[in-house]
Amino acid sequence: VRRLTRTSSFQLTLRYAVLFGTSVLLLGAAVYLQILHFATEQQDELLEREIKTIQREVTGRSRSEIVESIGAHARHPPAPSLRYGLLNSAVDRLAGNLPPVKPRQGAFWFRGPRADKPNKIDKIRGRRRALREDLVLVVAQDRHAQEGLEELRELIARDFGYAAGATLLLALVGGMLMSAGVLRRVDAMSRSASEIVDRDLSQRLPVQGRDDEFDRLAQSVNVMLERIESQVHAMRQVSADIAHDLRTPLTRLRNRIEAAVQVDDPQHIREALERSLGDMDGVLATFSALLRIAQIEAADRSTARMEFDLTNLLLTLVEVYQPTADSKGQTLHARIELDLRATGDRDLIAQLFANLLQNAVQHSLAGARIEVRARRAADEVEVIVADNGPGIPQAEHEKVFRRLYRLERSRTTPGSGLGLALVAAIAAMHNATIALSDNAPGLRVRVALRSSQRHTQ
Ligand SMILES: Nc1ncnc2c1ncn2[C@@H]1O[C@H](COP(=O)(O)OP(=O)(O)O)[C@@H](O)[C@H]1O
Ligand SMILES: [Mg+2]
Repeated sequence: VRRLTRTSSFQLTLRYAVLFGTSVLLLGAAVYLQILHFATEQQDELLEREIKTIQREVTGRSRSEIVESIGAHARHPPAPSLRYGLLNSAVDRLAGNLPPVKPRQGAFWFRGPRADKPNKIDKIRGRRRALREDLVLVVAQDRHAQEGLEELRELIARDFGYAAGATLLLALVGGMLMSAGVLRRVDAMSRSASEIVDRDLSQRLPVQGRDDEFDRLAQSVNVMLERIESQVHAMRQVSADIAHDLRTPLTRLRNRIEAAVQVDDPQHIREALERSLGDMDGVLATFSALLRIAQIEAADRSTARMEFDLTNLLLTLVEVYQPTADSKGQTLHARIELDLRATGDRDLIAQLFANLLQNAVQHSLAGARIEVRARRAADEVEVIVADNGPGIPQAEHEKVFRRLYRLERSRTTPGSGLGLALVAAIAAMHNATIALSDNAPGLRVRVALRSSQRHTQ
C-alpha cells in the first residue's frame, strides 16, 4: 500500500479528490445560501402582502378604529406565527402581539421569543410601514415558521456532506486502482529492462499497443536498444574480422621464421628475415590504418569546420595519380567546376578521394578509363569518381565499406581492405553522403559534400 500511495498517479488523484471534495462543499454552501435567500424573499413578500391588506383596510379610519383592526388581525393571523404591532412615535405598542422591538426601515431581522414556543429565542423577520405620521405598523414572522425550510436546510447540509465524503472515498479507491495498474506496467517494464541488461540484448520492452505514454516510452527505449544491439554486434564482428584477417600474415610470418631456423645457410636466413620484415611492416600498416579509422570515428564532428578549395584539391590528386594510370595504360579524365569550396578537414577529404582514385586505378585493368567529375548541386558539392573496370556487384555495395573486407578476386592483390572503411569514416565525420552505383561497366562512386557556398544558378 505504501508503494501505491507513493506513486505519482495516486498523489495526483488525491489532489484532485481534495479539489473535487472542496468543490462539492462549496457548491453545497452556495445552494444553502441561495435557499436561505429565497426563503427570506418569500417571507418578505408575505409580510408585504399583509401590510398592504391592512393599509387598504385602515385608510380614512380613526386612530381607535385602527387600534381595533390591528388587534383583530393579531388574534386571527392568516398564516402561522404572523405577529403584529401598532407602535406610536415613542415606540410604545398600542395594539397587537409583537414582542418589544425598535423597528428599522423596511425589512429587518431581530431576535425575540418564538410565537409557538415563547421560552425560545430565535430570529424573527419584521417589516415596518408608517400608516400615519404618528402610527407605525410592524408585521413579523419567525424565521423557522416557513414550512419545510428547517428540514430543507438540514437535508442540504447533510447531503452535500455525504456527497463530499463519497467523492473523497471514490477518488481514493479509484486512485489506488489506477496506481496499481500503473505500478503493474512499470514493474513489467523494469523487469524486462533488467532481464535485457542481465541476459539478452535482443529482447525488447513490452508494447501494449495502446499508444499511451508507456507505449511511447517503451518504443523509444526499444529504438535505443536496437541501436545499441547493432553497435555491439558490429563491434564484435569487427574484432572477429580483424583477428581473423591478421592471423593470415602472422601465420605466414611464423612459418617463414620456422623454416629459416631449420637451415644453416646465413644467406638464406638473411633473406627470410628481410621478407619477414616486409610482412611485419604490412601488419603494422594495417594496425595503423585501423587505429586511424577508430580515431576518425571517435572524433568530434564539429572540429572539422575549415573551408577550403575543393577544385584545387581534386586537380592536384588527379595530377598525382596520372603517372600511375599512365603506367597501367589507363586514361584519367577530370571534369571539375572552377572555384568549388567545401568545409571540413582538408587532409582527410584528400585522403578520401585519394583512396577512391587508388581503388579505381588498382582494381581496373589496363586500358580502363577513369573519370573525376565535380559540380555544385543545391547546397552541396557532388563529386563522382567513376571507372569502367570490373565494378562491384550490387550485393557487395554495403560490405566493401567494412573494415578488412575485400572482394574474392582482390584477395591476391596488395592492399588490406581498409581503404573504403576509411572513406566511410571520413564521410560520416563530415556528414557527407556516399553512394556506390553501377557505371555499366565499372564502379561509380558519388560523394556529396556539404558546402558553405550558395548555389546561384
Ligand atoms: N573501383 C573499384 N572497382 C572494382 N572493385 C573495387 C573498386 N574499389 C573497391 N573495390 C573492391 O572493394 C574492396 C574494398 O576496397 P578497399 O576497402 O579500398 O580495400 P583494398 O583496396 O585495400 O582492397 C576491394 O578489395 C575491391 O574488391
Ligand atoms: Mg583500396
